Amino acid sequence: MTSALPTAIHHDEPAGRPITMFGPDFPFAYDDFLAHPAGLGSLPAERHGTEVAVIGGGLSGIVTAYELMKLGLRPVVYEIAEIGGRLRTVNFPGCPDDVVAEMGAMRFPPSSTALFHYIDKVGLETTPFPNPLAEGTPSTVVDLKGESHYARTADELPAVFGKVAAAWDSTLSEQAAFTEMQKAIRDRDVKTIKRLWNELVPKLDNQTFYGFLCDSPAFASFRDREIFGQVGFGTGGWDTDFPNSILEILRVVYTGADDEHRSIVGGSRQLPLRLWEHAPEDIAFWPAGTSLSSLHGGSPNPGVARLHRTAPNNITVTDTEGRIRTYPAAVFTAQSWMLLSKIACDEALFPIDHWTAIERTHYMESSKVFVPVDRPFWLDKDPATGRDTMSMTLTDRMPRGTYLLGDDPDAPAVICLSYTWADDSLKWLPLSVSERVEVMLQSLKEIYPGVDVRRHIIGDPVTVSWEAEPHFMGAFKANLPGHYRYQHRLFTHFKQDRLQERHRGLFLAGDDVSWTAGWAEGAVQTALNAVWGVLHHFGGETDPANPGPGDVYDEIAPVELPD
Ligand code: ARG
Repeated sequence: MTSALPTAIHHDEPAGRPITMFGPDFPFAYDDFLAHPAGLGSLPAERHGTEVAVIGGGLSGIVTAYELMKLGLRPVVYEIAEIGGRLRTVNFPGCPDDVVAEMGAMRFPPSSTALFHYIDKVGLETTPFPNPLAEGTPSTVVDLKGESHYARTADELPAVFGKVAAAWDSTLSEQAAFTEMQKAIRDRDVKTIKRLWNELVPKLDNQTFYGFLCDSPAFASFRDREIFGQVGFGTGGWDTDFPNSILEILRVVYTGADDEHRSIVGGSRQLPLRLWEHAPEDIAFWPAGTSLSSLHGGSPNPGVARLHRTAPNNITVTDTEGRIRTYPAAVFTAQSWMLLSKIACDEALFPIDHWTAIERTHYMESSKVFVPVDRPFWLDKDPATGRDTMSMTLTDRMPRGTYLLGDDPDAPAVICLSYTWADDSLKWLPLSVSERVEVMLQSLKEIYPGVDVRRHIIGDPVTVSWEAEPHFMGAFKANLPGHYRYQHRLFTHFKQDRLQERHRGLFLAGDDVSWTAGWAEGAVQTALNAVWGVLHHFGGETDPANPGPGDVYDEIAPVELPD
């Protein structure tokens, strides 16, 4: 398996089932549920054609709408901007259409098996994403404290990097039962997953990623912790996550979420776009050929301005053009912070503890800058050293990560000059796109003194700071210490039998209520929870041969911490 650093743990791929994003919090086999010929369930005939509002046209909203349609309901999608959400693929003005930049999601682990169900369904191809030191990555430069190290594989790096990787491996095995947990995830051994995780959650919910490292004898050295923060695991440096709960990091490493990433050929936004047009074969009630697009006359409804409850137990949606419509159920899939400011909400939408959880949810900032270039010139060999002209770059300078995208010698290519999180993203926030590019090119000049990147640029740069995007307010959720209870409330909200009747009928979905925010798999898994919730709310049932997430909830429920 790939990893930023050579690690014993990551290197041996045992036979048997692969690692998937199965648990650890809620080990439900969403992939098997989706693949089962019995489908996701069925509704009483009198419910067929019932309208359900789906708020947000990102991946979670589109998956929710697609599956509700297959059940014979009529999803009504509201989207304030464009279908796709953070699957946002853009063109460069004036460049050919196939030169694209992924402003949001750009790399997908194969362990996201529910996500890949939909990628395969709509016939999208994937190719390896060039993460640092990954198998398909020609070369990597690690540039720290003004010193650059060139490597094709991890073992070409100086010994200290191997030492740091080994420290991480032993910390994970000794403090977080890593080997046992990965075996249990492969084996889908729910009992073992629960035993291990239910013991770790109360112990580690209060602990930061950094505190966890400090408590490990293997990370006694400050310099080792610093290097680890800069070079990290999987995709690279994660020191901007040091203040977050270590539980968030463990979820990522246990489930292979940062390993063997793939990109979607032509751009990730095609996934929600193709699902929008897709006419499923096994569809209840609707005539063959029905798609989300055909049900909506081509495009979704505008955004939502107001959400409130109306008697007896309905959800009323006012759109940004002033149209009002009342639904017996609704699924909210946008970032939940939208409910605090951008959308006028009736407090009766949720119990007060759920409001607290929405308010306290923590999002990471994230920015990127891309430029289009004439060709993948980085693959030219330096005649003096035989090395690539430029490499995938991890640095402690402002850009943090530079990715070289494209390998067709006769076609334009793209450089992601910088991809950053949290404080590193905030440092770019007040800078214009051209100021950002200037600083980034200056850093690259220091790292690659002989290379004139500017000469290859063939069009205007594109940039994003997700924290400044009005319909997102952040890139992805990341729990801070002590946030487990909030996360628990939001994730489990789809299981509404325990709520008072007046609080039922509105469901939350989306990456930010998932346990693994920042991965599209969480958007898909929570969409499937909401679909189950709506099915159940309307008196529908799953096939006994293919129980859904709410049917088996009690056996696999996330551990509850006392107040
Ligand atoms: N999955 C995304 C990526 O590969 C970002 C997720 C990072 N999450 C975090 N907590 N830092 O870049």
